[in-house]
Formats: sequence, C-alpha cells, structure tokens
Amino acid sequence: MSAGVIRPAASEDVPTLADMIARHVTSGDVLPRSAESIRATLGDWAVGQDDDGRVVACGSLWSYSPLLAEVRSLVVEPGLRSAGWGGRVLQALVVEAQRRGIATLFTLTRAVTFFERQGFTITDKSVFPEKIFKDCQACPLIDDCDEIALWMDITGGGLAEELKRQRLATALALRRAQRRAADAVNPLNAKEIER
Ligand SMILES: CC(C)(COP(=O)(O)OP(=O)(O)OC[C@H]1O[C@@H](n2cnc3c(N)ncnc32)[C@H](O)[C@@H]1OP(=O)(O)O)[C@@H](O)C(=O)NCCC(=O)NCCS
Repeated sequence: MSAGVIRPAASEDVPTLADMIARHVTSGDVLPRSAESIRATLGDWAVGQDDDGRVVACGSLWSYSPLLAEVRSLVVEPGLRSAGWGGRVLQALVVEAQRRGIATLFTLTRAVTFFERQGFTITDKSVFPEKIFKDCQACPLIDDCDEIALWMDITGGGLAEELKRQRLATALALRRAQRRAADAVNPLNAKEIER
C-alpha cells in the first residue's frame, strides 16, 4: 500500500516530472511534455511523494474550457504500481477540478479498467474535437489509435449531463454530415451501403 503524500507539484519537481514523462512517451502511454510546458502549467499538476521524499507518481489537468478538462500525464513509477498511487493522484486531480468548478473530466488512455474503477465511463473520441485538433492530428498513430476515451461527471449536477448531451449530439451530427459529404463525392458509396 502506498503511504507518503499526494501534494501539488513544486518548481523543484520539474526535472523529475520531465524525466518520468519522457520515460513513458516511447511506450505511447503519455504524450511528450517539455520541462518548459510542465513549469508553465505547474499549478495543474499533482505528485505522489513516498516516505523517502522521492516523487514516484504524477498527473495533470489540462483545461479546454471552464467546464471541461482532460486528465493527462498520469504516471506511476513501474515498480510501484498497483499500490494505490495512481488512484490517489487521480483523486487529487478530481478534487482540484471540482474546486475549479469544472463539470466534466475526460481522458484518452489504454488504462481503461483503471479509469473505470475510478468512476469514469467509456465514450466516443469524437466527443472531444478540441483534443483531436490539438494532439491527435500530429500523432503518427491517428489512423491506428488504440486509446479509449472515458469521461466523468464530477459536479454531480445537471451541468455535466447537459454538456455530455450536447457533445454527443454534435458528434453524431458531424459524423452524419461527413458521411453525406462522402456520399456526395461518390454516390456509389451510398448505394453500396443501402444494399
Ligand atoms: C495507469 C497507472 C497510472 C495506474 O497506476 P497504479 O498506481 O497502478 O493504480 P492503482 O494502484 O491506483 O490502481 C491499480 C488498478 O488499476 C487498474 N490498472 C492499473 N493499470 C492499468 C492498466 N495499464 N490498464 C488497465 N487497468 C489498469 C487495475 O485494476 C489495477 O488493479 P490491480 O492491481 O488489482 O490489477 C499506471 O499503471 C501507469 O503509470 N501506467 C503507464 C502510464 C499510463 O498508461 N497512464 C495513463 C494515461 S493518462
């Protein structure tokens, strides 16, 4: 079981955080974050520090709007996993997001069971066009992405439900419009699908 503490990140953590993230970029579990980017967003980070004072876990929030933020850069040192560090860092981020009045948190991840156990539910990636625009367009795996989108209502109020309803409706409308545009370019597509 993890003891230690979960605390906000401090400027002296930046090199450690940059190193932890860099070691997990090659496996594709997290996106690159430069030391400058970490320093510039330090207030959005939480870290797990063990009883010996070592930073062994981290995670951050990335706000897209006053209502929507992403959980990203969530990493626990490999030898210390399954001891609760990841869940505790995520909980600290949830509490911080609640404090900021954010209604919905989301993530794109392969660690689906972990997020489900923390109360997130699976949704469609297309619900987050701003994420796709900002990060996915530049990703070499965009056409072969194995990450799953999950989200969680953290306010418990109707705001997140309304946000979710609107986003699902917009994503559906966008997909229909894209299909109509494709059919207009090649009407045979539509006929093939109808058959
Ligand atoms: C995902 C991660 C942060 C979880 O940290 P952790 O400290 O092991 O999490 P906890 O101890 O709080 O919870 C462990 C439980 O979460 C689930 N879990 C943990 N890692 C998982 C993964 N990669 N895939 C699916 N479920 C996972 C399991 O149910 C696990 O329970 P178990 O140990 O009984 O099997 C950690 O595995 C990690 O750093 N992974 C690499 C980076 C990554 O994928 N980050 C998520 C991207 S945002």
